[in-house]
Amino acid sequence: MNYGHVLIFGGTGMLAKATGWIAAHSERTVVFGRNRHRLERIAKQYDGYGLEAKQLDYTDNAALIREIHAAHSQHGPIGMVVAWIHGTAPKVLPTIKEQISRLQRDPWTLVHIKGSSSRLSDITKPDSDAPENCQVKEVRLGFVYDGTSSRWLTHEEISDGVIEAIKGNQPITVVGTLEPWDKRP
Ligand SMILES: NC(=O)c1ccc[n+]([C@@H]2O[C@H](COP(=O)([O-])OP(=O)(O)OC[C@H]3O[C@@H](n4cnc5c(N)ncnc54)[C@H](OP(=O)(O)O)[C@@H]3O)[C@@H](O)[C@H]2O)c1
Repeated sequence: MNYGHVLIFGGTGMLAKATGWIAAHSERTVVFGRNRHRLERIAKQYDGYGLEAKQLDYTDNAALIREIHAAHSQHGPIGMVVAWIHGTAPKVLPTIKEQISRLQRDPWTLVHIKGSSSRLSDITKPDSDAPENCQVKEVRLGFVYDGTSSRWLTHEEISDGVIEAIKGNQPITVVGTLEPWDKRP
């Protein structure tokens, strides 16, 4: 499978392994982040797969719009966006959806990673306003519970869950468990 031109937001930390896998299965992948050290490290690690790492603070809405337009004009229609966005930046996903639907009629997939909110309802609330040409795949991050004790997911488990969601065709993928919610770590 080749995912074409992919944009990744929130992919330089815990999701780094998934970012590398996506780059290996895509024509062109651009990963955005603020931290220069993390960006240089991931660009070096996956150098052979055409991964471009660009500095962007996604809370700067004008800069976010500029980067989406620049990616589209440099590398063509966007096939997939992978986004793990902090809850403190609620404008980012609507901006991504709006800008891509302005730029292209080509179909694209939004892999929306949600997790670790203090409220379960924030995770389980479905994406409501997807553009017509956009298929949304939600990845809901939970925790691991063995009936006695619980722990958060490892970076590896999070990346593997995202990769499975990308490969599969399910609209919702739960990594770990969300139930019983009061047993979370
Ligand atoms: N469910 C679970 O089992 C589990 C396990 C571990 C963690 N978590 C939770 O996951 C959440 C994320 O943790 P974290 O932030 O430490 O993850 P992280 O993966 O280390 O960093 C978040 C990613 O988002 C990027 N990012 C954040 N703010 C940005 C901004 N304004 N503009 C551009 N990129 C931005 C970061 O890039 P830069 O660093 O370059 O900004 C990085 O790529 C936390 O709430 C944590 O508690 C859950």
